[in-house]
Amino acid sequence: MSLLIGIPKEVFANEKRVATVPDVVEKLIKLGFSVAVESGAGDAANFSDDSYRASGAEIVADAAQLWATADIVFKVRPPSKDEVALLREGATLIGFIWPAQNPDLMQQLAARKATALAIDCLPRTLSRAQKMDALTSQAGVGGYRAVIEAANAFGRFFNGQITAAGKVPPAKVFIAGAGVAGLAAIGTAAGLGAIVRANDTRAEVADQVTSLGGEFVKVDYEEEGSGGGGYAKVMSEGFQQAQREMYAKQAREVDIIITTALIPGKPAPKLITADMVQSMKAGSVIVDMAAEQGGNCELTVPGEVVERHGVTIVGYTDLASRLSKQSSTLYATNLFRLAEELCKTKDGIIDVNMEDDAIRGLTVVKDGAITWPAPPLKPAAVAAAKPAAVMPEKKSGHGHGAPGEPMAGNKLAIMFGVAAALFWLVGSFAPTAFLAHFTVFVLACFVGYMVVWNVTPALHTPLMSVTNAISSIIAIGALIQIAPPLAEGAAAPNEWIRWLALGGIVLTAINMFGGFAVTQRMLAMFRK
Ligand code: NAI
Repeated sequence: MSLLIGIPKEVFANEKRVATVPDVVEKLIKLGFSVAVESGAGDAANFSDDSYRASGAEIVADAAQLWATADIVFKVRPPSKDEVALLREGATLIGFIWPAQNPDLMQQLAARKATALAIDCLPRTLSRAQKMDALTSQAGVGGYRAVIEAANAFGRFFNGQITAAGKVPPAKVFIAGAGVAGLAAIGTAAGLGAIVRANDTRAEVADQVTSLGGEFVKVDYEEEGSGGGGYAKVMSEGFQQAQREMYAKQAREVDIIITTALIPGKPAPKLITADMVQSMKAGSVIVDMAAEQGGNCELTVPGEVVERHGVTIVGYTDLASRLSKQSSTLYATNLFRLAEELCKTKDGIIDVNMEDDAIRGLTVVKDGAITWPAPPLKPAAVAAAKPAAVMPEKKSGHGHGAPGEPMAGNKLAIMFGVAAALFWLVGSFAPTAFLAHFTVFVLACFVGYMVVWNVTPALHTPLMSVTNAISSIIAIGALIQIAPPLAEGAAAPNEWIRWLALGGIVLTAINMFGGFAVTQRMLAMFRK
């Protein structure tokens, strides 16, 4: 029998998001699930009960009934104590849980013999987990909204204009921290026409800043800012001093500062001092996205907008919820992708497979037993791609790929020796013509290996779309083998060679047409 997914209305004050949206309800039903939505759950995100009903969901008026009947509950915010009390024994809960910050909730969930999947515990360094990465999708919405909040509080245009009434200079925006939220803010502010500068302790993000239309401002101090695995580390006092000087200079020059700097598990670094705020031009704006973790600015009041020294400081902690339709849609898609992973059989039954790295990382309570924190990921499982951002509860070291163990020296020597002996054997017995072909084959394997394996996994898709050139060489080679001999009297190719060449053409065709299809999809992403 297929399972029932329940979507309760969020009870956290001012939370406008909802865990699934009508379009996604249809997809969940196609996966074999039934869906029940609490009446009014989507109201604040502009999704009416009728729209859910039209997508095939059942609308339940009573929250207690919804919680009591659902086999799986999709939520945004961690459930309140009262909500957990309503959860059916043995049911599955999926949503933000923040186990490190909520030990009591974890105990309660265990007492309900529940299974809980914390979307905030997703191993984000796994490239195949990116589609489920709700921290990233929500931080992206937050970064966008931070710029909109700044524009709202700022008394001028973002873009420079020359009008009959006079010349308007473009606004200057400085972004502290170029992680997920920071990069979204850079793109948005640049799109509005502002001059955008950004700084991050991890120098490797400089290219990303530039590609989004920003200018990366370096701290005049040589120190590696990466703490490994794509995360930042706490910098030396010398660096922090140099950074403060640079930030003080930017504060005097720019109109808007958006701060997003954070190292997970640590209080937000105080980057903007009261003196810097005072040095800003009257009418300037600071949006402190790290407000919830104590704020990057000394004068931020979490959750509020305050004015200090003529500067508006926005400390909202619910920026994603302030764009609830967008954030709910992205969140719903993240959860749907997770549902797909849990229900590969498409029959509305889930399998919480603890052998799967992504699922293991997410599962914080399994059938009443606390399974958090998950063991560190195996190095091979971690893609070298930039982790979009970071795990919130880093104490566990969860989500980091430990650097791979270098291959033992003697193991490598043995492998090398065996390979050399094999070559010698082949060389002594094989005909000369074979040797020439074999050398080319080995070199081609080597070049292919180097070309593919030295490319970060994130670039494999575009790489696949350009390997068509290589495929065409294979196709031509195979066609020559299949074609009848041109010269009179020349020997016809061996049947085996013909069949092998035909196999080569079939495989290459898959790569070529697949490459075109991938290219097509990639181009479609950039079409408006
Ligand atoms: P992230 O981890 O992707 O980005 C943080 C960036 O700050 C990293 O690139 C890191 O290298 C950098 N950083 C750390 N210490 C620094 C320092 N001392 N100086 C300069 N850069 C430094 O995190 P993400 O997802 O972008 O989130 C950023 C912040 O925004 C977090 O505090 C998050 O909780 C908050 N957030 C707030 C929302 C709101 O409603 N206010 C909504 C979404 C996110």
